[in-house]
Amino acid sequence: MGVAEELEAMRREALAAIAGAIDLARLDVVRVAYLGKKGSLTGILRGLGSLSAEERPVVGKVSNEVRQALEAALEERKSALDASALEERVAADAVDVTLPGRVRMPGREHLINMITREIVDVFVGLGYQVVEGPEAELDYYNFTALNHPPAHPARAASDTFYVRDLSCDGVDATGESDVLLRTHTSPVQIRTMEQVKPPLYVIAPGRVYRRDIADPSHLPQFHQIEGLVVDEGITFGDLKGTLDYFCKEMFGHDRRTRFRPHFFPFTEPSAEVDVSCGICGGDGCRFCKGTGWLEILGCGMVDPNVFGYVDYDTERYVGFAFGLGVERIAALKYNIPDLRMLVEGDMRFLRQF
Ligand code: DAH
Repeated sequence: MGVAEELEAMRREALAAIAGAIDLARLDVVRVAYLGKKGSLTGILRGLGSLSAEERPVVGKVSNEVRQALEAALEERKSALDASALEERVAADAVDVTLPGRVRMPGREHLINMITREIVDVFVGLGYQVVEGPEAELDYYNFTALNHPPAHPARAASDTFYVRDLSCDGVDATGESDVLLRTHTSPVQIRTMEQVKPPLYVIAPGRVYRRDIADPSHLPQFHQIEGLVVDEGITFGDLKGTLDYFCKEMFGHDRRTRFRPHFFPFTEPSAEVDVSCGICGGDGCRFCKGTGWLEILGCGMVDPNVFGYVDYDTERYVGFAFGLGVERIAALKYNIPDLRMLVEGDMRFLRQF
């Protein structure tokens, strides 16, 4: 085979190799094999000197054509491969704008805190101040100074969580000690009166504890809001007007209230307050057990015995007090059938409010 045919065969072979190179690295291997320092075409060009005078220009011309053809093919293949590499990268980075977005659920205030804030706001609007007391409380503040006799049933270890003081010998078998988890917010009344002289208009929100098994209407830990007013010339009419105003603010101006005689050790007289049922408007339905009324709080005129514990002048000052359960108000306002739903942390439920 003459040199010219050899070159022609090399051109075909090289062009096929270039077309078949599937990436830039393989394309470069092909380039080096033909056009590199030790490449086959380079070898032929180097050998031109040994050819005869007639052969040299012909072979020289054809070799140059082959080299140009290969260089052009290499260049073309290279840009094709570059373009597809770019396409691949773009495809890999592509954003599918039809996918649904990632939803971020922001946290929010718990219903109990919301209701507490609403209730506190109503009284702050009337000029009351917010006060607080400890959740681990002394028997003295929780019971004794609130006029509970020594044998009052609420003092039983079956109703109240007592804090055992393990550092003391002689803790009895029931675990009773003089430290307990407060069973109501009423001890804040005593702590406040110890600190401040009348006139006094305060509201005390907080957590309380009772030894109850959780069921639809009981929780062993819940929230109360206590109110206390002490001033000269306060009457039961002031108490009624205040709580009637509160109920209308909280539940709506079409709601009515009624005061039923009741007993609490620390108030005399005492009452329980009912608000007219929001479901039936007072006609009687399943929600209000046919009575047309829903019980929402306890209240009364402060018993002078209580003032005796804090050295308030019972001749000069009169007071009223009230206590309400926040979970109960939340349940009445939003028709929640089971108080346990408020502490289970199920966001599908809690997000509704
Ligand atoms: N402490 C009472 C309870 O937990 C509620 C209560 C009733 C508070 C009458 C008061 C009140 O201040 O006057 O059941």
